[in-house]
Amino acid sequence: MEDEISSFFESSPPLKNMEEILENLNEFIKLNSSSQGGRRIVCVTSGGTTVPLEQRCVRYIDNFSSGNRGAASTENFVKAGYAVIFLYRRGTCQPYCRSLPDDPFLECFEFPDKTNIQVHTSHLEAVKMAVMDQQAAVAEGSLLKLPFSTIYEYLQMLRLIATALKDVGPYSMFYLAAAVSDFYVPWKSMTEHKIESGSGPLDIRLAQVPKMLSVLRSNWAPKAFCISFKLETDSKILMEKATKALRKYKVHAVVANELSTRKEEVVVVSSSGNVVVKRECDKPESFVEDNLIRLIVDRHSTYIKESHN
Ligand code: PMT
Repeated sequence: MEDEISSFFESSPPLKNMEEILENLNEFIKLNSSSQGGRRIVCVTSGGTTVPLEQRCVRYIDNFSSGNRGAASTENFVKAGYAVIFLYRRGTCQPYCRSLPDDPFLECFEFPDKTNIQVHTSHLEAVKMAVMDQQAAVAEGSLLKLPFSTIYEYLQMLRLIATALKDVGPYSMFYLAAAVSDFYVPWKSMTEHKIESGSGPLDIRLAQVPKMLSVLRSNWAPKAFCISFKLETDSKILMEKATKALRKYKVHAVVANELSTRKEEVVVVSSSGNVVVKRECDKPESFVEDNLIRLIVDRHSTYIKESHN
């Protein structure tokens, strides 16, 4: 497995802005490790990774994820006093933007005359809250956003973050809600130019993406608290798969969710048993992440206490 992981990274196209990412990351971690005796830091991953089919990519395979879970969880972690590294797929849902219309830029604003722009009264409150909350989180140093698109970018960035967080030890957490590709086209066997059409069906052989959870736990950040997710569309196999993942990857909990009900309920699977977490149906403004993050933060506190014994 270690060979597969090394060869995945060796053959990946290098990150274009690695220096800049590292600089921002280290500055963020330094700021938060030294502020008021040190804040807890969580890396929230969000959105789906793409698998390019051509090096000069025109076509790609995508993984489903709107980014809602990651965005809502990030807001809740910030509220709970965490510093959040939000590793997200470009173009997916962002923290504090969930109550804005689909195309906020075009739908939120109006021109009373040619030289002025103003927010529509109907969206005023939502825009005000979104701008204020996001600016406060960034100004307090509680939110660092890092975008990715491909599986190559995602896994290289996850490794950078995990390695950078190593010294934060048990005060760091990984909350892996991104939908990560299981299959990919290795860079070296990928055609450079756009695949030509017109010569009948296309056969592509996809290699398996090595699971990075084991190496994250054992090498990159062994002391971090680690939460992974399990998504299935068949509820009959969900719990079995989540329990298996808990044992196999030795994460601290697996959040099991089914595609069609993921916004209503999830099950947190851990060695202390399974806990069903639901959205509060009688409250229209409630999200399943409100209760989920409360539980995860609690578990993280226990983990920190135990790691000092
Ligand atoms: O974004 P939303 O629309 O709100 O939806 C949220 C969600 C359904 C995407 C989210 O709740 C969720 O379940 N995310 C994980 C989906 C997923 O990729 O599951 P998986 O069974 O393929 O992977 C399980 C775990 O293995 C994940 O934590 C993943 O980070 C990890 N993994 C996956 C592939 C891989 N090659 N290496 C990995 O480490």
